[in-house]
Amino acid sequence: MSVLTIDKLTSTVGAEVTGLDPAALGQDDALGAAVLDALEDNGVLVFPKLNLDPQAQVAFCRRLGEIDHSSDGHHPVAGIYPVTLDTSKNASAAYLRATFDWHIDGCTPTGDDYPQKATVLSAVQVAERGGETEFASSYGAYDALRDDEKARLASLRVVHSLEASQRRVTPDPTPEQVARWRSRPTHEHPLVWTHRSGRKSLVLGASADYVVGMDRDEGRALLADLLDRATGAGQVYRHDWAVGDTVIWDNRGVLHRAAPYDPDSPRLMLRTTILGDEPIQ
Ligand code: OGA
Ligand code: MN
Repeated sequence: MSVLTIDKLTSTVGAEVTGLDPAALGQDDALGAAVLDALEDNGVLVFPKLNLDPQAQVAFCRRLGEIDHSSDGHHPVAGIYPVTLDTSKNASAAYLRATFDWHIDGCTPTGDDYPQKATVLSAVQVAERGGETEFASSYGAYDALRDDEKARLASLRVVHSLEASQRRVTPDPTPEQVARWRSRPTHEHPLVWTHRSGRKSLVLGASADYVVGMDRDEGRALLADLLDRATGAGQVYRHDWAVGDTVIWDNRGVLHRAAPYDPDSPRLMLRTTILGDEPIQ
């Protein structure tokens, strides 16, 4: 039987999990279920200095659901994707600059896949300065709305695109860059996600381009205001990485971003994502 010690890191998002045996992670089904429950309750779980090797990370993630292999090929271990700005460690590193803006992973999939249920990162090398990862609850963002706002936002739909998130970090793209971004289909999502659990969250972030049927500027101002309120002081957990830390977040209920770090930094995170089983609806 597994025992997790869970200590909340802020009042709205994040908890630290200790007392975990890394060797048991890959085998213990009960542990997987306990981690998923804790993730639903806290949005983000921090496992300080777990020192998982890549294979152990993948084995652990298998306890949490089906692993996303769509980004395989950048690392020798299947299920591992290197998150770094160093192009010698990841040829598609340039795209990762978009992680500096608040976002939810998986809002603009190549097909019709649901957003990934959870994302796992482990720190191999950390930035000398910056490079913390920040988290805010998108359930909390919805819950904090006034009743009249909840009523007004209930029927709104938002178009998400890779272009929207890339343009924020590359405002003067080449025609080739734009063509590559546009080859990824756009996705229309409700602004308010009603989950199977009955909880509601706001679907916001860098990929959110415009509100359907609303004047573009007005819609973008609304999205920006909601994002500001969701990620204001007091609502954010900021993880200051140490080598060996593992962090898991729940893409159904959490927005996240990386704090800026030097493009020449050796910062390297190994990511595994777990496929979602719930559409944004
Ligand atoms: C990601 C991501 C943030 C970070 O991997 O999806 O947003 O701090 N990473 O590297
Ligand atoms: Mn991300």
